[in-house]
Amino acid sequence: MRDPVGKLLLFGATGDLAQRMLLPSLYGLHADGLLPEGLTITGTARSDHDDVSYRKFAKHALDEFLPEDRKDDKAVKTFLDRIGYQALDASKVEGFPALAEKVGDVSGGLAIFLSTAPFLFEPTIKGLESAGLAGPRTRIGLEKPLGYDLASSKEINDAVAIAFPEDRTFRIDHYLGKETVQNILALRFGNSFFEPVWNAQGIDNIQITVAETVGLEERAGYYDTAGALRDMVANHILQLVALIAMEPPARFDGTAIRDEKAKVFRSLRRIKPEEAPHVTVTGQYGAGAVNGEIVKSYIDELGKPSTTETFVAIKAHVDNWRWQGVPFYLRTGKRMPTRHSEIAIQFKAVPHSMFASRGGLLQPNMLIIRLQPEEYVQLLVMAKEPGLDRDGIRLREVPLNLSLDAEFAGTRRRIAYERLLLDLIEGDPTLFVRRDEVEAQWEWIDAIRAGWVANDMKPKPYGSGTWGPSAAIALTERDGVTWQDD
Ligand code: BG6
Repeated sequence: MRDPVGKLLLFGATGDLAQRMLLPSLYGLHADGLLPEGLTITGTARSDHDDVSYRKFAKHALDEFLPEDRKDDKAVKTFLDRIGYQALDASKVEGFPALAEKVGDVSGGLAIFLSTAPFLFEPTIKGLESAGLAGPRTRIGLEKPLGYDLASSKEINDAVAIAFPEDRTFRIDHYLGKETVQNILALRFGNSFFEPVWNAQGIDNIQITVAETVGLEERAGYYDTAGALRDMVANHILQLVALIAMEPPARFDGTAIRDEKAKVFRSLRRIKPEEAPHVTVTGQYGAGAVNGEIVKSYIDELGKPSTTETFVAIKAHVDNWRWQGVPFYLRTGKRMPTRHSEIAIQFKAVPHSMFASRGGLLQPNMLIIRLQPEEYVQLLVMAKEPGLDRDGIRLREVPLNLSLDAEFAGTRRRIAYERLLLDLIEGDPTLFVRRDEVEAQWEWIDAIRAGWVANDMKPKPYGSGTWGPSAAIALTERDGVTWQDD
């Protein structure tokens, strides 16, 4: 049951995420009348603002990051009226009473959005608790990075759990807020014809690609300590694996969905140290050209030597009855030739081709779920080429296209954080990540990292604007599989 709160407290209120995503998302909800009436928003960060200067700051963020057709002077003004600000050094408990005073009466419920450096989690939770901001009607949303391995993630989870029980802890993976990611559930469980072939009998292999054209951006401090495996695979890509691989949940609710996802994470085949060089590939971008623009190498952008990977490819397996023998090829990288996220499901070839002797080559069917930047679902099927060929019929692979962009053209696509902030404010945990999921994800990721260390694996160089090191191509080609590239 949804249980909206009356107050929202935003940590990291002057950060990049707040400017690009959180403020525009909250504005979007406000402008559409979706925020609870009377909900007030308190921003907090170290920066020295008062209400007036923070509202200016927020206005500037909206000017910069809202699409033109969403800007409405009246809605912007009423939105800014909801916002206040309190400066805080979260590492010191002394500042929290003033924050609590600023937030005011929380008997109507409080939602906290915490996006902060990992070392601040513990003091922040202590500060909130000591100032009476962690009562039974407070829920907390936690933004990544939630640790950098299983041990540190447990530490953070333990620190949070002292003040917030699991049912009031909302771990954010913004991929789960994306419409297209939720659409995987709709496709799989809202249609009857996929399920009978959605298994090792029907599917040959699955590829998941999250390719980005950007490089380090302004995030050197964080990214260089994380790398592609922790930054993208440990959360977003594994969530995609879970949605593709999970058993049908009985209900669309937080318990049923997360139970099934957690089972997938626990079924991931642990990669042994000696296997790591064969089933994982890491890379780091060198200089090159992306979309016609000459870009620097990672090391030059960073300004110092580094062995952090900006690309990773993995051959993974889900060891259960449904997926036995089906490889999941996962890959993600910065400075790729295009920005796209896609899941490609290759079905088994037909058992016998009656066209074989007639020069008609059959391609196995493939289902492509394009998550971004375009949103579509494409089923590649074999069709007869028109013509009067005397030596039999000629076949060609053609796409059966469902363009979600076109189909829902009149509907505004929301930022993933609109969904997640609304669910945090209203208390629906379905699209948030449970502790057992996070810990099972880290267990699998830690084993891979241990393999890299044991084998002294260093990232292989690849040119910016390419699909990663050639070893990543060999990873699938060895199995007779080709990555779906654009
Ligand atoms: C973030 C990562 O979680 O996701 C970034 O930290 C990455 O490195 C981003 O760029 C990608 O998100 P999206 O929504 O642009 O695919």
